[in-house]
Amino acid sequence: MDFLSIIKQPISNELDVFVELFNSTLEHDYELLQNVLDHIRQRGGKRMRPMLILLIAKNYGGVNAVTQNAAVGLELLHTASLVHDDVVDESNERRGQASVNATYNNKVAVLVGDFILSSALLRVSETNNELIIRNLARLGQTLSAGEVLQLINIDNNEISEEVYYQVIMQKTAALFESCCEMGALSAGMGEEEIAEVRDFGRNIGLAFQIRDDIFDYYDSAEIGKPTGNDMAEGKLTLPVIYALNSTGNAEMLELARKVKQRTVTTDEIATLVAFTKENGGMEYAEQKMEHFRSLAQQFINRNVQQEDIKNALTAYIDFIVQRNK
Ligand code: IPE
Ligand code: IPE
Ligand code: MG
Ligand code: MG
Repeated sequence: MDFLSIIKQPISNELDVFVELFNSTLEHDYELLQNVLDHIRQRGGKRMRPMLILLIAKNYGGVNAVTQNAAVGLELLHTASLVHDDVVDESNERRGQASVNATYNNKVAVLVGDFILSSALLRVSETNNELIIRNLARLGQTLSAGEVLQLINIDNNEISEEVYYQVIMQKTAALFESCCEMGALSAGMGEEEIAEVRDFGRNIGLAFQIRDDIFDYYDSAEIGKPTGNDMAEGKLTLPVIYALNSTGNAEMLELARKVKQRTVTTDEIATLVAFTKENGGMEYAEQKMEHFRSLAQQFINRNVQQEDIKNALTAYIDFIVQRNK
């Protein structure tokens, strides 16, 4: 069986319920708005976050209506952040189709992103669970703050792993943390379990974003979004940060400064990518990703007893590090 089938096996009925509730939330009678919502619904994405919250809830006693409303709220917040992200990154492809900003325009993408974000809050308010509602609202702040920190970081001269982790902790890992926290909260767990499961989510999220950043160094049609974009946007990610700091190569540091100043040419980006690959940047990032995967595995070994859920969560973290989209 492939990874995704193993992941879905214990939650297949619950995922069907999720998809129906998710789709029914994206409705409006203005034709333009509905057309954009249909465009978004057409390509669902990998559903990594809903699968995680459903598996965690199941591990702690079962998926209920609170879990489903929280799962839809989280996936909507994620979806809104991608619609906005493609405006910010001036990116024209998402999930193997044209992005909303490319299909319509930036104004439409900003407004529909806001509509989806508000739909997320409305949906999660249906849980009537104060902790879950507060968690989602705070998560929205954290995701935006992470994106802002990324912008700030382009404009300074710092090239450090520490800042890299600060950014990905907020823009990506916080969402996986919330999936785990809300899954456990919906199943009635207390502080002790919540603290542990949050760590699990954070490790998954860090591994997830490092994998995503590694993608950017290779050409691939499979991913469904453009590669080679990060440096063009001024972003330096873990592989090149490592190669620069471990060699201290003055010529390459000068190119890195040009990346940040957005004056770098396509050829110079290719030079930096080749330099990164020649100086162990890819292996280093893969090693870090593996480190976070193995911390997540330790949580599964300690805290997940049911065989099918154990297999599903193990397949989940294996998929995250081995995926090709
Ligand atoms: C994209 O997340 C945003 C990042 C954190 C890199 P996914 O790759 O999970 O996006 P979809 O939902 O499957 O499109
Ligand atoms: C995705 O960030 C959006 C968030 C994590 C909030 P990126 O800009 O790094 O990811 P992609 O490559 O566009 O999906
Ligand atoms: Mg971005
Ligand atoms: Mg982007």
